[in-house]
Amino acid sequence: MKKSGIISLFIAIVFFSAAGCKKNDGGNLTASSSHNSTAGHNMSGACQSCHISGGSGPGWWNVAGTVYSQDLSTVSPNGTIYFYDNPNGTGTPVATLEVDANGNFYTSSSILPAGGAYPQVKDVSGNMQIMPQLCTSGNCNACHGVTTTKIWVN
Ligand code: HEC
Ligand code: HEC
Repeated sequence: MKKSGIISLFIAIVFFSAAGCKKNDGGNLTASSSHNSTAGHNMSGACQSCHISGGSGPGWWNVAGTVYSQDLSTVSPNGTIYFYDNPNGTGTPVATLEVDANGNFYTSSSILPAGGAYPQVKDVSGNMQIMPQLCTSGNCNACHGVTTTKIWVN
């Protein structure tokens, strides 16, 4: 009696955790942010905590984050992220990514070089900010807004 109770509890746990995984998997999709698009949501969290294989967000982002204005609360829409292989925005960008109407940028493509790059953000008015350090992770909001300031420009 006691033993079968434990077994059914075990089966129930296995069943519910399997169903939970299935429900939470958003699956992958090929997508990138573009100027004026509102396809994403206005969510400032670390995008890749959900947008990864097995995560709840549809699309596994290689690079993603959010750009704010200097007040760090209003988003800065429709700018562009440039990735340079040299510090201080010198040389030619190795990749670019458009920021959408919600201030979000994301892509499922592997645009960040394996050795990293120096990201620069330019807003619609041409103001820019550059990351002084070499960036090797596309999970931008894992640091920005957590261990350092949010990405901002203006
Ligand atoms: C807490 C989990 C979570 C976080 C964090 C998160 N998302 Fe999502 N995202 C989802 C879910 C779930 C959906 C699908 C339902 C919806 O649209 O709200 C989604 C949908 C999207 C879509 C629409 C994809 C499609 O179907 O075309 C985009 C784009 C997107 N997210 C971008 C982002 C960006 C960029 C960030 C970070 C700034 C982010 N998400 C942070 C869970 C998350
Ligand atoms: C490992 C942590 C980390 C990651 C990941 C990271 N950054 Fe940074 N970033 C920093 C730090 C630290 C600074 C310097 C902040 C300062 O000088 O006040 C910075 C500065 C910046 C700046 C200049 C200041 C600003 O906010 O405008 C930009 C632009 C920037 N990062 C963009 C990005 C982008 C885009 C990504 C993702 C591709 C990214 N960062 C990923 C830590 C990180």
